[in-house]
Amino acid sequence: EIEVTNFEILNESEIPPFNVEEDVKASDDLRLQYRYLDMRRHTLTDNLILRNNVYHIVHEYFKNFGFLEIETPILMKSTPEGARDYLVPSRVHKGKFYALPQSPQTYKQILMVAGLDKYVQICKCFRDEDLRADRQPEFTQIDLEMSFVTQEDIFQISEGFFRQVWKEIMNIDIPTPFRKMTYNDAMQTYGSDKPDLRIKGEMKIQTITESLLNSGFKVFDDVIASKGTIAAIKLEKQEVTRKSIDSITDFVKKLGLGGIAYIKIANDGAITSPIQKFIGEEKIKEIISNLKADSGDTIFILSGDSKKVYPALGSLRLKLAEDFKLIDESKYEFLWIIDFPLFHFEEEENRYVGEHHIFTMPKDEFLPFLDSTSREEIESIRANCYDLVLNGTELGSGSIRIHKPGIQKKVFNIIGLSDDEAKEKFGFLLEAFQYGAPPHGGVAFGFDRLVAILCGLKSIRDVIAFPKTVSASSLMDNCPNVVEDKQLKELGISITKS
Ligand code: AMO
Repeated sequence: EIEVTNFEILNESEIPPFNVEEDVKASDDLRLQYRYLDMRRHTLTDNLILRNNVYHIVHEYFKNFGFLEIETPILMKSTPEGARDYLVPSRVHKGKFYALPQSPQTYKQILMVAGLDKYVQICKCFRDEDLRADRQPEFTQIDLEMSFVTQEDIFQISEGFFRQVWKEIMNIDIPTPFRKMTYNDAMQTYGSDKPDLRIKGEMKIQTITESLLNSGFKVFDDVIASKGTIAAIKLEKQEVTRKSIDSITDFVKKLGLGGIAYIKIANDGAITSPIQKFIGEEKIKEIISNLKADSGDTIFILSGDSKKVYPALGSLRLKLAEDFKLIDESKYEFLWIIDFPLFHFEEEENRYVGEHHIFTMPKDEFLPFLDSTSREEIESIRANCYDLVLNGTELGSGSIRIHKPGIQKKVFNIIGLSDDEAKEKFGFLLEAFQYGAPPHGGVAFGFDRLVAILCGLKSIRDVIAFPKTVSASSLMDNCPNVVEDKQLKELGISITKS
């Protein structure tokens, strides 16, 4: 195709370990080891170009609203709460450690005390946690914080940003304001705090405990007696075979439930249900009418502790949507989840932990419960806290913050930090709040997740130039690695081998 008149060899190449072609056949590990070759494929470079375009929109959009980009430290104080910290030993202060930020949360709040009312940063965050397709040990956030704002102000500024991104990158006008749903509604209707709203027929969960009072079926009667829940979802107009029922039963058993009941209505209207002989035809008909089921539909019913039943139906909803190809991939369904609980009780640790983080302001009407000792009251506290969900992915999360040291102290106490421990860990923040901290709030969006969705990808690895594997290692430069004894000695560290 090219007529060569002259050439000069600038450099020679070894034969590459795999063919650099769009339909690449090499294993993931080999491609990660030779990431620079893999990145020669257009699909990967295109993702990085798109990522770059989103950076520019962030800078431009927030600048237009008067935000300042301010860099916060990468070496900070270790205050583990949430994930585990990555620690960095100090040579000068032997035996002491910095931590890499899990997020710039405390710094951005302190910037508000400093009077820098609108902060934004595209920042790196580090979390030593179990990895999966949408989680990397180091990842990027679009992090923002504002003073004198309400939840609505944060929604508006965020929605404007996503509108601009979708317009510029996809040429799509996304409708705003985004839908809103309370945490309780999301859990009871979709069994998840990040419901995917693209599923055809919606497949909402229906609680049917009332219809099954005194059914005479021991399993249900026992559940009701122990204040449990019976709930169901409907799969519309799909061929459900014996094999799919078996696989669904296995699926819910793995989620810790005893089994699943179903009601299948054949195309000719004939009803098959293994529970009909226990609860009778009347109750079956009542459930069918509750769920507005019709011929060709199948109803799946789970019973037990509501804390298990709703999430299990939520997972089953996603499995059925995937198995029966019910997800409309052309849609972008943005949704704010609001009114999260402030705490949940972690049975394993035998203590309360912050549902989001511990700087979140309780809603006014729940403030008196911060002095309560009743688990029911403490778990009922709702917060000015929100998540942005897109197509079933948690894209971002934020809150209106506590700006009064007294309230912050009470929250620390509930999660088991004594006044002294709170002072030791977060004294700097409590102290800052004593100097006229303004009311403030913010949000952080997962940059990698945003770009992955824009690229139509499930894994954020494909939008990161140098990602880590699921065991948090980098195959290209082979890290983490052993360091020289001399380095350890300088740091005053000795390694114990198990
Ligand atoms: P949060 O911990 O919810 O909130 O994080 C905000 C968003 O960051 C993304 N994210 C991740 N992306 C890739 N890999 C990970 N390991 C990972 N962990 C989180 C998600 C998530 O919604 N400081 C608060 C924000 C605030 O309150 O302002 C925070 O970090 O998309």
